[in-house]
Amino acid sequence: MVAELVPARVDPVTAGRELWKRYHDFRRVRHTELRPEDPLEPDEVVEAQMKKPNPFDVTHYFEMTRGGQMVSWLDGQTVAPANPEYETNKHLFWADAYVRPEHRRQGIGALWLPVVARLMDEHGCTVVGMHSDQDSGHGFIKWLGAESKLTEIESRLKLSEVDWAMLERWAAEGRQRSPQTKLEIYDGPLPEAMWPEFAAQRSTLLNTIPFEGLDIGNIVVTPERIREHYERAALVGEVGHDVMTREPDGVISGMTDVSWASYRRTLIYQQFTGVLPSARGRGIGKWIKAAMVLHIRELYPDAEWIVTDNAHSNGPMLKINRTMGFKPSRTGIDYQMSRDQLGARL
Ligand SMILES: CC(C)(COP(=O)(O)OP(=O)(O)OC[C@H]1O[C@@H](n2cnc3c(N)ncnc32)[C@H](O)[C@@H]1OP(=O)(O)O)[C@@H](O)C(=O)NCCC(=O)NCCS
Repeated sequence: MVAELVPARVDPVTAGRELWKRYHDFRRVRHTELRPEDPLEPDEVVEAQMKKPNPFDVTHYFEMTRGGQMVSWLDGQTVAPANPEYETNKHLFWADAYVRPEHRRQGIGALWLPVVARLMDEHGCTVVGMHSDQDSGHGFIKWLGAESKLTEIESRLKLSEVDWAMLERWAAEGRQRSPQTKLEIYDGPLPEAMWPEFAAQRSTLLNTIPFEGLDIGNIVVTPERIREHYERAALVGEVGHDVMTREPDGVISGMTDVSWASYRRTLIYQQFTGVLPSARGRGIGKWIKAAMVLHIRELYPDAEWIVTDNAHSNGPMLKINRTMGFKPSRTGIDYQMSRDQLGARL
């Protein structure tokens, strides 16, 4: 049975309707199992994103089919040479697989291993990473022999339960404690003239995130990557909002951003929040987080949840989130193993 399954490469740019029909059917099964409470990404959004060329990342897609039905899917990713992170990230490969529930424990997931090994060799990658928040994924990855490197907690804030008076207080206290610091709010893409300074500061702040034991290179945001991000967002109608603080000398000391889309109006993703180490301890984190939620209430009265991810060990961020009312909704683990360890499993 399993022997007749052959991994086949999928090219989203040339894929015909039959492939997309199979894939969207498969995606619905995966969504029902993994994210039943969330809106499903519309087919046209997924297709537009997968078809758009990405100069910074190389992504490979593969399927296994039986009787015209997609049984399993794999995607694998690494940095492209044009990525400013290439030098410190080129040894890393990320893989993600899904097998339809009724086809599990028959060795299908294991059929992806030689494919992953070949792709890693093609790119010269020496470490493969995988993420899972499912018992089946943990079981499979442990069998593989990969090590747990980073525990991530997804938390959700229910907007109907927010203590608005507390958030107003946090915003007021932020202003009082740093009277010279200015709060700025941007809806939609940041003005292009800001990209160089924003990119540099965002890189600095992103590199202060605790990644526990994860092998990860330097995070490098550049104006070119900001442009690519905005093009990608515009393609599917995603809108970003940024709240930041600026010190009297013009330096951006704190930033937080969220993303909204019409196809998931109830769900706002809060991406990154960071405060410069030298500006910590002044209530800026609470100020920008509170200002963002107050802003969202005005902009999107029909939004129901804000969702965010943090490292399990990120005490300060989790403390702010928990006090705001964000509740843990899911725990995921990033695992990594070397190409040699993978080879031993083959
Ligand atoms: C993870 C997943 C891809 C594995 O697919 P699969 O075809 O069932 O895996 P295999 O049959 O090749 O399993 C190989 C070995 O992994 C281990 N394993 C797989 N599923 C397991 C489970 N649910 N519990 C414990 N161990 C498990 C077993 O040792 C298994 O060998 P065995 O059946 O001979 O004991 C599949 O369960 C899945 O799609 N899960 C949801 C998505 C996910 O978490 N993906 C992340 C992985 S990158």
